[in-house]
Amino acid sequence: MCGIIGYIGHRNVVNVILSGLTNLEYRGYDSAGLALRDGSDIKVYKTLGKLVNLKNELEARKSELYNVTCGIGHIRWATHGSPSLVNAHPHSCTCGKLVVVHNGIIENYKELREELIKKGCEFKSQTDTEVIAHLVANEYSKAKNLEMAIQNSVAKLQGAYAICVMHKDVPDLIIGARKHAPMLIGVGDGENFIASDTPAIIEYTKKTIYLDDNEIAIVTKDSVKIKDINGEEIDKKIEILPWEPIALSKLGYKHFMLKEIYEQPDVIRNVLNGKIYDIDEPIILNEVKLDKETIRNLKKIEIIACGTSLHVGLVAKYVLEDFTGISVEVEASSEYIYRKTTTDSSTLVIGVSQSGETADTITAIKQAKAKNAHVLIVTNRPDSNMARLADSLIPVNAGIEVSVAATKSYIAQLVSFYLLGIYMAEVKGTLDSDYLKNLKHEIIQLPTKVEEILSCTNSIQTCAKKFSSFKNFIFIARGVNLATAYEGALKLKEVSYINATGYAAGELKHGPIAMLDETMPVLSILMSGGITYEKVLSNSEEAKARNAKLIALTSSNDEKLDSLFDVVLRVPQVREILSPIIACVPCQLLAYYIAEFLGKDVDQPRNLAKSVTVE
Ligand code: G6P
Repeated sequence: MCGIIGYIGHRNVVNVILSGLTNLEYRGYDSAGLALRDGSDIKVYKTLGKLVNLKNELEARKSELYNVTCGIGHIRWATHGSPSLVNAHPHSCTCGKLVVVHNGIIENYKELREELIKKGCEFKSQTDTEVIAHLVANEYSKAKNLEMAIQNSVAKLQGAYAICVMHKDVPDLIIGARKHAPMLIGVGDGENFIASDTPAIIEYTKKTIYLDDNEIAIVTKDSVKIKDINGEEIDKKIEILPWEPIALSKLGYKHFMLKEIYEQPDVIRNVLNGKIYDIDEPIILNEVKLDKETIRNLKKIEIIACGTSLHVGLVAKYVLEDFTGISVEVEASSEYIYRKTTTDSSTLVIGVSQSGETADTITAIKQAKAKNAHVLIVTNRPDSNMARLADSLIPVNAGIEVSVAATKSYIAQLVSFYLLGIYMAEVKGTLDSDYLKNLKHEIIQLPTKVEEILSCTNSIQTCAKKFSSFKNFIFIARGVNLATAYEGALKLKEVSYINATGYAAGELKHGPIAMLDETMPVLSILMSGGITYEKVLSNSEEAKARNAKLIALTSSNDEKLDSLFDVVLRVPQVREILSPIIACVPCQLLAYYIAEFLGKDVDQPRNLAKSVTVE
């Protein structure tokens, strides 16, 4: 979703802002803009569509710029008002002296807008953000102090905001403020940065101060002061970012999505590192802060998440119930919040989120915390808002994921749940020691098995070409791989815009079978050695009888499959409960190659955002 970068310092301000916005591009956006202090002027440039348009605009108009000392930039994902130039950020007050960029949603913007119009403010856009520009300008006209004007203004805002403000009459100063939307300061030498997310600044500095809610950052090129909304200075810790700039490079791959799929064996190794070191020893999971007695007495686990992370939760239900015997409910965060849940202090609530910023999940987590549940967060962003709400935090350490479609964060979250399941089973004594040893042994082999899939993708690429002209797909599976069918279908939809649906194979005959003919391919996930294989095979036969084209994703070597299915994609054998780790990889690759073959914008699919910070 939207992204912010502000810069003040000795470098070329335009270049820093454009490169910062480029590194936030993956979040998804539909317009971009920046405001530059040039001598005593503030100049605003905005364009629709991709950042390249803003780059071209600035290139064409660079002769207008003489002495740029600081600036604020933004990419916008439309919420209030269509994606248009007038709605793009930065927004200005009536006289144009004050500029603001904003992430989040101001809930009371209509009331504020009416009040400000009565005071003579002239609104140009349909956005909620524009009220902030007029509000702060109004307060500035009274206080004659930008810091105080912002303090007074944010006190009137309801909702979520991360804002950056500059004023023509206050040279070489950028002020940032946040509530319920991320914002951080990048601390440099003779330069400073304000950003909504770390990739925007990682090229320049690793020294970071994370702003908390209701904090205001007063930033010049040589100083950073953080204050509360009453103007009291706060002593904040400088943290060192764990990311390397190289994470933002494609390293020769055509797309980040492909690079990130190929990183998965190492991502799994990373998750396992330090947790399983000997199959005869218990798993080490110091991140779980629940004491052993509480784990033994847990009545229920609730998993809340959105999108791909929700599919992780669906796999986790099978894993945790199988390993621990504790009942697990999984629900989309956006629905959980409407239920009078039976959550209490004997419930473990697990929030799963690659970004750690998904607004629906944050709301759901807060609801669970209010009911005294212990909240465990599984995320790829230990620096996120969600992580800060956690009682226990499992960082999955997949590294920055740039492609909007989640792949390596999915596999890292999955593996983390297997470790959590084993950890809890060891505390509760629910699995016998031989089973545990074999299970751990197989988990350690997983990276090599994923490497095997990645080392030969010809059949997947051929399959992708063969099926890229179809407009619809059905993915079927049973049991622990039902979520793989959902995730495979979601990946295909996200990057290729082909209509794909995941179904429980047993449900096929209760409706979806009516859709089947030669135009509707069915991809069956048939992992051998478990209890679902034969049944999914029968369901595939039913599809074949309706002339559907069939793809098998299987770990079976049974030659009979080659005559039943039009394409057979074979993967290495693992026990069924672990097979979602193996089965998800060909699904990711199939979606990738179909999208790539169709020439889609793989890393930044239309309308999607990596980090969904609005409900
Ligand atoms: C967006 C992303 C998805 C992601 C979902 C949930 O829709 O495009 O890839 O699965 O949000 O995000 P989270 O960060 O909470 O996992």
